Amino acid sequence: MMSPIQIAPSILSADFGRLAEEIRAIESAGADYIHVDVMDGRFVPNITIGPPVVKALKKVATRPLDVHLMIVEPERWVDAFADAGADIITVHQEACTHLQRTLAEIKKRGCRAGVSLNPATSEETLRYVIDDVDLILVMTVNPGFGGQKFLASQLEKITRLRAMLHAAKNTTAVIEVDGGVDEKTAHDVVKAGASVLVAGNAVFTKPSYADAIRAVRSSGEAGRGDGLIV
Ligand code: DX5
Ligand code: ZN
Repeated sequence: MMSPIQIAPSILSADFGRLAEEIRAIESAGADYIHVDVMDGRFVPNITIGPPVVKALKKVATRPLDVHLMIVEPERWVDAFADAGADIITVHQEACTHLQRTLAEIKKRGCRAGVSLNPATSEETLRYVIDDVDLILVMTVNPGFGGQKFLASQLEKITRLRAMLHAAKNTTAVIEVDGGVDEKTAHDVVKAGASVLVAGNAVFTKPSYADAIRAVRSSGEAGRGDGLIV
């Protein structure tokens, strides 16, 4: 069965001085997840937030916190983010020497385990952990900043991952896409096989968050209508 399209606004593009208000606003505008971008200035050339801010967000949020760790050695931080209230913890394939072990540790903490691929990383790197992931996050920009241009080269990767998941026996994993997703590109990423859409600038730069979320969702729904049913 196809998963419903879910929208995960990225608070990287929110007003950091008013995070609680911004969370309430995107939730009442229809957000399904709250996407939290954690950057360490080493894995990516930018620094954002850590576990104390996630803990503060957890007090306000009623939707699951989708925590995207763009950090080196993410296994050292799984406990801290789980304690802070992360519902989904996504690590980068490129940052994990023992990816299967890290995914198992995330699940042991009761969180959903995600793995993300940078644009240059092949989907084949996930072949032998495909039954261990709950979510695959395909980056359609090089991670580090909001508001970058969508890389259409990644659509083929999404299609190949969809086929890999379809062939796997024991998985209910979903494909999430992050970077440059808006009311135009959502169509193509859903057509290729994604069902969870991260959107930063496409939501937070708009006067009405509800209209913006609706526009991304309906573009995705149109793409699903045009896509293969798998
Ligand atoms: C990029 C982050 C994204 C980013 C998305 O490094 O992982 O979540 O905030 O922002 P937009 O939708 O503006 O590309
Ligand atoms: Zn992200």
